[in-house]
Amino acid sequence: MAAGRARTAFACDDCGHEAPRWLGRCPGCGAWGTLADAGPAGAGLSEVPSVVRLADLGSEAPPRRDTGIGELDRVLGGGLVPGSVVLVGGEPGIGKSTLVLQALGGLCGHGTTLLITGEESPQQVAARARRLGGGAGEVQVLADVRLESALAAIRAHRPVVCAVDSVQTLFCEAVEGGAGSVGQVREVTAQLVRVAKEEGVVVLLVGQVTKEGGLAGPRALEHLVDTVLAFEGDDLREHRVLRATKNRFGSTNEAGVFEMGPAGLSEVGDPSTLYLQEMASGDRVGSCAFPAIEGTRAVLVEVQALVGPTNIVPPRRAAVGVDRTRLAQVIAVLSRHAGLRLGDHDVFVSVAGGARAADPAADLAIALAVASAHRGVPLAGVTAAYGELGLTGAVRPAGHGPRRLAAAAQGGAAVAVTPESARPEERSDALRPRAVHRIAGVREALEAAFASQ
Ligand code: TYD
Ligand code: MG
Repeated sequence: MAAGRARTAFACDDCGHEAPRWLGRCPGCGAWGTLADAGPAGAGLSEVPSVVRLADLGSEAPPRRDTGIGELDRVLGGGLVPGSVVLVGGEPGIGKSTLVLQALGGLCGHGTTLLITGEESPQQVAARARRLGGGAGEVQVLADVRLESALAAIRAHRPVVCAVDSVQTLFCEAVEGGAGSVGQVREVTAQLVRVAKEEGVVVLLVGQVTKEGGLAGPRALEHLVDTVLAFEGDDLREHRVLRATKNRFGSTNEAGVFEMGPAGLSEVGDPSTLYLQEMASGDRVGSCAFPAIEGTRAVLVEVQALVGPTNIVPPRRAAVGVDRTRLAQVIAVLSRHAGLRLGDHDVFVSVAGGARAADPAADLAIALAVASAHRGVPLAGVTAAYGELGLTGAVRPAGHGPRRLAAAAQGGAAVAVTPESARPEERSDALRPRAVHRIAGVREALEAAFASQ
């Protein structure tokens, strides 16, 4: 080899920086995942790359692999796409390891499934597999924290799916920093993405997220992977919600609902009433149901409010599961257009059970929950409400009216407060609560909701 001539094997797509080996991050410009194989040292491209006309490409959707867990498959957009990388993020104890092991067990029928564990010993994983039953016992396990071992195992055993639990525990010797540092998790992820594409293996990455966000978490990896799933829940409750926050192969609107039990996670097929168990029996002051649309499903969730006098200036406004800005706006509209004095009251609003009501149509349910808490009077029966509040106090129509009404009725709501519909009345035999009040403004909504006692 000629002395002094650099052996270039990789070059950055962005800045052209050349490196002798592959790196997750370009030392030249700092971009991630941009280094690509530039061929052997000093050699240019031997042939002109061929290009393809889009219209000549087939339209077949990529084949998918069912995990056997319907709620997970639906959130993924219909199973796992070979060669894709899915990051499952969530706080410790939420059930990530359980979900991943159950999915691997369900996929055993498709071929080898491999679990690379850096957090637990094979014995611990085996104990969990016994608890879960199903196909979990068929899963192959490798306990190792070296990225090089993980890559070699994937290339040697060619599993259909490989899970890494967790991405923070893997360590690449060529990169500085301890396991779990931002540089490490990015390099580990970038290399796993590469092997997934090359071998057509699905890689499931488990990512720990701490409440403080202290660890180099999934945030830093989102753009490297195809799909990001967030596994969330309320520690006090038995159920867990899985959502896609990024999905190259499906929608991000779907939510999967699970319950954690003695034999692992079970699917909650019809979550429409899940959040309302206590609503019908408990103290309903400050509570209003909201028929939320989640992807292809309507789910009845419970919006709860607590209102109390305060000397603190400005008074507190806290929102869990609803948007803070929307809450502030709803409070302003209630004060201005419905005569509620909230300027010297703290207002807390939360969606029960860790569910979310991010849709603007949640405004009316928030308004009724706050009004009920403020008056100390419950809404009639179980009241479900939806509709977006304008700053003028008008209630705007919201989409999916018939589906929302059906979900309200299924969830046991006796009363519904909804916007006036611009459309002709839907079929009279459609499922809906006993009393449906169609209102034009927030004041009218309050009158209707409290009058039907
Ligand atoms: P785990 O999957 O280990 O959570 P993560 O990987 O996100 O940290 O499980 C979380 C909790 O679930 C754990 O405290 C034990 C409990 N669990 C059950 O209740 N039933 C079961 O069958 C399993 C496997 C776990
Ligand atoms: Mg775990």
